[in-house]
Amino acid sequence: MQKYLVANWKMNCNAAEAKELVHGIIKGIENCKLKIENLNIVLCPPFTALPVIYPIIQLSNYPIIHLGAQNCHFMPCGAFTGEISTKMLKDFCQYVILGHSERRKYFNEDDKLISKKVRVALDNNLTPIICVGEFKKGEKSHLILSQVKNTLSEVRNEDLDKVIFAYEPVWAISTIADREDCEPSYAAKIIREIKETTYNKSPVLYGGSVDASNISGFVAYDIIDGVLVGGASLKAKEFIKIIEKVGANAK
Ligand code: PGA
Repeated sequence: MQKYLVANWKMNCNAAEAKELVHGIIKGIENCKLKIENLNIVLCPPFTALPVIYPIIQLSNYPIIHLGAQNCHFMPCGAFTGEISTKMLKDFCQYVILGHSERRKYFNEDDKLISKKVRVALDNNLTPIICVGEFKKGEKSHLILSQVKNTLSEVRNEDLDKVIFAYEPVWAISTIADREDCEPSYAAKIIREIKETTYNKSPVLYGGSVDASNISGFVAYDIIDGVLVGGASLKAKEFIKIIEKVGANAK
Protein backbone atom coordinates (compact mmCIF):
# COMPACT_ATOMS: atom_id res chain seq x y z
CA MET A 1 0.00 0.00 0.00
CA GLN A 2 1.41 3.40 -1.04
CA LYS A 3 2.00 5.94 1.72
CA TYR A 4 2.54 9.64 1.15
CA LEU A 5 4.95 11.82 3.07
CA VAL A 6 4.40 15.44 2.15
CA ALA A 7 6.90 17.97 3.51
CA ASN A 8 5.47 21.49 3.72
CA TRP A 9 8.45 23.76 4.25
CA LYS A 10 6.17 26.83 4.35
CA MET A 11 8.05 30.18 4.08
CA ASN A 12 11.39 28.73 5.19
CA CYS A 13 14.74 28.07 3.46
CA ASN A 14 16.61 30.27 1.05
CA ALA A 15 18.45 28.57 -1.82
CA ALA A 16 21.50 27.54 0.24
CA GLU A 17 19.40 26.23 3.13
CA ALA A 18 17.12 24.34 0.75
CA LYS A 19 20.15 22.69 -0.88
CA GLU A 20 21.55 21.64 2.46
CA LEU A 21 18.21 20.23 3.61
CA VAL A 22 17.59 18.26 0.44
CA HIS A 23 21.13 16.84 0.47
CA GLY A 24 20.56 15.77 4.09
CA ILE A 25 17.29 14.08 3.18
CA ILE A 26 18.80 12.24 0.20
CA LYS A 27 21.76 11.08 2.28
CA GLY A 28 19.39 9.85 4.97
CA ILE A 29 17.34 7.94 2.39
CA GLU A 30 20.52 6.33 1.03
CA ASN A 31 21.30 5.07 4.51
CA CYS A 32 17.74 3.88 5.18
CA LYS A 33 17.75 0.19 5.86
CA LEU A 34 14.03 -0.17 5.43
CA LYS A 35 12.06 -0.82 2.29
CA ILE A 36 10.99 2.54 0.98
CA GLU A 37 9.65 1.64 -2.47
CA ASN A 38 6.09 2.04 -1.26
CA LEU A 39 6.63 5.63 -0.24
CA ASN A 40 5.86 8.79 -2.15
CA ILE A 41 7.91 11.59 -0.66
CA VAL A 42 6.73 15.01 -1.83
CA LEU A 43 8.96 17.95 -0.91
CA CYS A 44 7.15 21.29 -1.06
CA PRO A 45 9.72 24.08 -0.68
CA PRO A 46 9.10 27.78 -1.37
CA PHE A 47 8.88 28.63 -5.08
CA THR A 48 12.41 30.07 -5.23
CA ALA A 49 13.93 26.78 -4.06
CA LEU A 50 12.17 24.66 -6.70
CA PRO A 51 14.67 25.26 -9.53
CA VAL A 52 17.53 24.85 -7.04
CA ILE A 53 16.56 21.45 -5.71
CA TYR A 54 14.97 20.06 -8.87
CA PRO A 55 18.32 19.07 -10.48
CA ILE A 56 19.56 17.60 -7.18
CA ILE A 57 16.53 15.33 -6.99
CA GLN A 58 16.85 14.36 -10.66
CA LEU A 59 20.50 13.40 -10.15
CA SER A 60 19.76 11.47 -6.96
CA ASN A 61 17.83 8.99 -9.04
CA TYR A 62 15.23 8.27 -6.36
CA PRO A 63 11.90 8.01 -8.15
CA ILE A 64 10.14 8.06 -4.78
CA ILE A 65 11.07 11.74 -4.27
CA HIS A 66 8.83 14.30 -5.95
CA LEU A 67 8.40 18.05 -5.81
CA GLY A 68 5.31 20.04 -4.96
CA ALA A 69 4.39 23.70 -4.64
CA GLN A 70 2.55 25.30 -1.74
CA ASN A 71 0.05 27.28 -3.82
CA CYS A 72 -0.83 28.40 -7.35
CA HIS A 73 -3.06 30.90 -9.12
CA PHE A 74 -6.24 29.71 -10.83
CA MET A 75 -5.41 31.35 -14.15
CA PRO A 76 -2.86 29.87 -16.58
CA CYS A 77 -1.08 33.24 -17.13
CA GLY A 78 -1.78 36.96 -17.32
CA ALA A 79 -1.76 40.24 -15.41
CA PHE A 80 -1.68 38.90 -11.84
CA THR A 81 1.32 40.59 -10.25
CA GLY A 82 3.12 38.45 -7.72
CA GLU A 83 1.27 35.23 -8.55
CA ILE A 84 2.50 31.91 -9.94
CA SER A 85 0.75 29.62 -12.41
CA THR A 86 0.53 25.88 -12.79
CA LYS A 87 2.18 26.26 -16.19
CA MET A 88 5.29 27.61 -14.42
CA LEU A 89 5.16 25.06 -11.63
CA LYS A 90 4.86 22.18 -14.07
CA ASP A 91 8.52 22.68 -15.02
CA PHE A 92 9.47 21.32 -11.59
CA CYS A 93 6.45 19.90 -9.75
CA GLN A 94 4.01 17.05 -9.86
CA TYR A 95 1.96 18.17 -6.87
CA VAL A 96 0.54 21.39 -5.43
CA ILE A 97 -0.79 21.98 -1.91
CA LEU A 98 -4.06 23.93 -2.08
CA GLY A 99 -6.29 25.48 0.55
CA HIS A 100 -3.84 25.22 3.44
CA SER A 101 -5.35 26.72 6.61
CA GLU A 102 -2.71 29.47 6.55
CA ARG A 103 -3.88 30.46 3.05
CA ARG A 104 -7.49 30.39 4.26
CA LYS A 105 -6.67 32.41 7.41
CA TYR A 106 -4.13 35.00 6.20
CA PHE A 107 -5.10 35.30 2.53
CA ASN A 108 -8.87 34.85 2.83
CA GLU A 109 -8.98 31.87 0.51
CA ASP A 110 -12.38 30.21 0.45
CA ASP A 111 -13.63 26.92 -0.94
CA LYS A 112 -14.84 28.56 -4.17
CA LEU A 113 -11.40 29.99 -4.96
CA ILE A 114 -9.70 26.73 -3.95
CA SER A 115 -12.04 24.76 -6.24
CA LYS A 116 -10.84 26.88 -9.20
CA LYS A 117 -7.22 26.18 -8.28
CA VAL A 118 -7.99 22.47 -8.04
CA ARG A 119 -9.43 22.59 -11.56
CA VAL A 120 -6.44 24.40 -13.07
CA ALA A 121 -4.04 22.02 -11.29
CA LEU A 122 -5.80 18.98 -12.76
CA ASP A 123 -5.92 20.60 -16.19
CA ASN A 124 -2.13 20.89 -16.01
CA ASN A 125 -1.51 17.37 -14.71
CA LEU A 126 -0.54 18.49 -11.24
CA THR A 127 -1.96 16.48 -8.34
CA PRO A 128 -3.73 18.81 -5.91
CA ILE A 129 -3.21 18.08 -2.22
CA ILE A 130 -6.29 19.80 -0.80
CA CYS A 131 -6.15 20.76 2.86
CA VAL A 132 -9.35 20.64 4.88
CA GLY A 133 -9.92 20.88 8.60
CA GLU A 134 -11.79 22.67 11.35
CA PHE A 135 -10.32 25.72 13.07
CA LYS A 136 -11.69 24.90 16.53
CA LYS A 137 -11.58 21.59 18.37
CA GLY A 138 -15.02 20.06 18.71
CA GLU A 139 -16.48 21.56 15.53
CA LYS A 140 -18.75 19.13 13.74
CA SER A 141 -17.34 16.98 10.95
CA HIS A 142 -20.01 18.15 8.48
CA LEU A 143 -18.01 21.40 8.24
CA ILE A 144 -14.98 19.44 7.09
CA LEU A 145 -17.08 17.37 4.69
CA SER A 146 -18.58 20.52 3.21
CA GLN A 147 -15.03 21.80 2.57
CA VAL A 148 -14.38 18.50 0.77
CA LYS A 149 -17.52 18.78 -1.37
CA ASN A 150 -17.06 22.49 -2.12
CA THR A 151 -13.42 22.22 -3.14
CA LEU A 152 -14.39 19.35 -5.45
CA SER A 153 -17.15 21.32 -7.15
CA GLU A 154 -15.22 21.45 -10.45
CA VAL A 155 -13.96 17.84 -10.34
CA ARG A 156 -15.72 14.97 -12.11
CA ASN A 157 -16.22 11.78 -10.09
CA GLU A 158 -13.97 9.85 -12.45
CA ASP A 159 -11.12 12.24 -11.54
CA LEU A 160 -11.38 11.76 -7.77
CA ASP A 161 -8.39 9.43 -7.80
CA LYS A 162 -6.26 12.30 -9.14
CA VAL A 163 -6.88 14.36 -6.01
CA ILE A 164 -5.35 13.95 -2.55
CA PHE A 165 -6.87 15.34 0.65
CA ALA A 166 -5.00 16.26 3.81
CA TYR A 167 -7.10 16.40 6.97
CA GLU A 168 -5.43 19.07 9.08
CA PRO A 169 -7.28 20.03 12.27
CA VAL A 170 -6.03 23.58 12.59
CA TRP A 171 -6.04 23.39 16.42
CA ALA A 172 -3.37 20.65 16.19
CA ILE A 173 -0.89 22.51 13.94
CA SER A 174 2.47 23.02 15.66
CA THR A 175 2.62 26.80 15.29
CA ILE A 176 -0.80 27.45 16.88
CA ALA A 177 -0.29 29.09 20.30
CA ASP A 178 -2.73 26.96 22.33
CA ARG A 179 -2.51 23.88 20.15
CA GLU A 180 -3.74 20.49 21.30
CA ASP A 181 -2.82 16.98 20.23
CA CYS A 182 -5.08 15.21 17.76
CA GLU A 183 -5.48 11.56 18.67
CA PRO A 184 -4.70 9.20 15.77
CA SER A 185 -8.05 7.46 16.38
CA TYR A 186 -9.87 10.79 15.91
CA ALA A 187 -7.90 11.56 12.74
CA ALA A 188 -8.76 8.07 11.43
CA LYS A 189 -12.47 8.63 12.16
CA ILE A 190 -12.59 11.92 10.22
CA ILE A 191 -10.49 10.46 7.40
CA ARG A 192 -12.97 7.58 7.11
CA GLU A 193 -15.78 10.14 6.66
CA ILE A 194 -13.77 12.04 4.02
CA LYS A 195 -13.16 8.77 2.18
CA GLU A 196 -16.88 7.94 2.24
CA THR A 197 -17.57 11.39 0.76
CA THR A 198 -15.08 10.76 -2.06
CA TYR A 199 -16.26 7.17 -2.77
CA ASN A 200 -12.93 5.82 -1.43
CA LYS A 201 -11.17 7.14 -4.50
CA SER A 202 -9.00 9.97 -3.10
CA PRO A 203 -6.08 9.21 -0.78
CA VAL A 204 -6.45 11.08 2.52
CA LEU A 205 -3.49 12.15 4.66
CA TYR A 206 -3.26 13.51 8.20
CA GLY A 207 -1.39 16.71 9.10
CA GLY A 208 -0.85 18.57 12.36
CA SER A 209 2.31 18.39 14.54
CA VAL A 210 3.45 15.09 13.05
CA ASP A 211 6.96 14.19 14.20
CA ALA A 212 9.15 11.15 14.74
CA SER A 213 7.66 10.52 18.18
CA ASN A 214 3.99 10.33 17.12
CA ILE A 215 4.09 9.23 13.46
CA SER A 216 3.74 5.50 14.21
CA GLY A 217 0.39 6.12 15.92
CA PHE A 218 -1.01 7.67 12.75
CA VAL A 219 0.34 5.27 10.16
CA ALA A 220 -0.75 2.29 12.25
CA TYR A 221 -4.20 3.08 10.82
CA ASP A 222 -4.33 1.64 7.30
CA ILE A 223 -7.05 4.14 6.43
CA ILE A 224 -4.55 7.02 6.83
CA ASP A 225 -2.69 7.16 3.51
CA GLY A 226 0.20 9.21 4.82
CA VAL A 227 1.05 12.49 6.46
CA LEU A 228 1.64 16.15 5.69
CA VAL A 229 4.52 17.35 7.86
CA GLY A 230 5.35 21.00 8.53
CA GLY A 231 7.90 21.93 11.20
CA ALA A 232 9.43 18.47 11.55
CA SER A 233 10.19 18.33 7.81
CA LEU A 234 12.70 21.17 8.17
CA LYS A 235 15.17 19.01 10.08
CA ALA A 236 16.72 16.34 7.85
CA LYS A 237 17.40 13.89 10.69
CA GLU A 238 13.90 14.19 12.13
CA PHE A 239 12.33 13.85 8.69
CA ILE A 240 14.39 10.75 7.95
CA LYS A 241 13.19 9.17 11.20
CA ILE A 242 9.63 9.86 10.07
CA ILE A 243 10.38 8.31 6.66
CA GLU A 244 11.80 5.20 8.35
CA LYS A 245 8.77 4.79 10.57
CA VAL A 246 6.32 5.25 7.69
CA GLY A 247 8.43 2.84 5.62
CA ALA A 248 8.14 0.25 8.39
CA ASN A 249 4.33 0.51 8.11
CA ALA A 250 4.02 0.61 4.31
CA LYS A 251 3.43 -3.05 3.52
P1 PGA B 1 3.04 21.16 11.43
O1 PGA B 1 2.42 21.82 10.13
O2 PGA B 1 3.46 19.76 11.09
O3 PGA B 1 4.20 22.04 11.79
O4 PGA B 1 1.96 21.16 12.46
C1 PGA B 1 1.53 21.12 9.33
C2 PGA B 1 0.91 22.06 8.34
O5 PGA B 1 0.58 23.21 8.71
O6 PGA B 1 0.74 21.70 7.17
